[in-house]
Amino acid sequence: MSIEMMHKPEKAPFDESNFEFTNLLPSYRIDLRNPRNEMPDKFFNANLVSDWSQLSWKDVGKPYEVKTMSVDLRNWEREHEQKMPVKTSWEYFNRSFHEWFIKDVPKERSAAKEQLFLNMKQFNMNEVKTSIGELMRLSLWNYAHRVEDGIWDPRGKRALFEGLDVKKPNILFLGAAEGYEAMQLHAMYPGGQVVMVDYDEFCKTNRFAEFPDTYPFLGTNEQTGSPRVWYKKQMNIDYVVDDIRNLKYGKEFDIVMSVGLLEHVPDAYKEEILDFHRRFLKPGGYVIMTTPRNQWKSRMYYRVMSDVMNHTYRELMDIRQMGLYVYQSGFDIMRHGYMKVHNGIVAKQR
Ligand SMILES: C[S@@+](CC[C@H](N)C(=O)[O-])C[C@H]1O[C@@H](n2cnc3c(N)ncnc32)[C@H](O)[C@@H]1O
Repeated sequence: MSIEMMHKPEKAPFDESNFEFTNLLPSYRIDLRNPRNEMPDKFFNANLVSDWSQLSWKDVGKPYEVKTMSVDLRNWEREHEQKMPVKTSWEYFNRSFHEWFIKDVPKERSAAKEQLFLNMKQFNMNEVKTSIGELMRLSLWNYAHRVEDGIWDPRGKRALFEGLDVKKPNILFLGAAEGYEAMQLHAMYPGGQVVMVDYDEFCKTNRFAEFPDTYPFLGTNEQTGSPRVWYKKQMNIDYVVDDIRNLKYGKEFDIVMSVGLLEHVPDAYKEEILDFHRRFLKPGGYVIMTTPRNQWKSRMYYRVMSDVMNHTYRELMDIRQMGLYVYQSGFDIMRHGYMKVHNGIVAKQR
């Protein structure tokens, strides 16, 4: 595993003097609020279920399947007269999603508004429709990712990750994409190593590599235990480009995590995904998983953003449905609840 440099990066705009600070940058929010967890949690312990063994699928129903697929996927399948292979669909998804993370949103919204007025002036009704669609997507992205910070949701994630009994943990992130959550977790429990795994090379070369070096993660000072600001370049991260199904690790990880993976396979394959969370876990280790919530805001988001987001099979579930998958696969659920747009679970093998 590569050891990245442990010094402060050249561009480290925030430090401990910026605690309680939040600010909107053109592409994302930075959020250093609540370093001592004195404010209300942003992870809501649902405590809906006290005995998972008493819950059945009849009680909770099955997840909601998102059916509006992206135009790129539909065109590809028409052209090739076959279903898009799953890995190809992730390659489309990751390129498309990444494009949005790096947008200068205010600038693009102004340009989209100008374009809309121009098309209206020229009575170009087809173009007007296209411009309205683009403006809607930009406005929704601005709200969901930039203003609300619902996708990265550092305060929700920190609250979910809080209170783990680990020291210098080795962390395995399955389907890591840009790796955000493992970096947040590593910042909170420093000193160990992170292995990120994704079979789409673009995730390593672009999504992770272009994740801003200057993004401040609120974590812990290893020496003093006090809050401290961490940057990507200070972290000990190994990014592996491989299929999860090819991994050959032993039971060597204190924490195995995934964010938005379980809901991308139908029921017949869920057990296989869950098994990969167990396979490389040390005895007594933690599994942390999140999946998108089934709420009207999210259903609307995946409809409006379908061309950006929907290249793969996708379900939206509630925390009881997610918990039942995890419990029935042989895990005990230590915490279950939700943040802005995701459900979250911390579990241990039974
Ligand atoms: C929905 S994304 C995770 C959400 C993520 N937070 C994001 O921002 O995109 C799932 C990731 O898992 C990866 N993935 C899916 N199946 C995989 C497999 N069998 N092996 C390795 N990576 C896989 C995809 O390439 C994708 O980057």
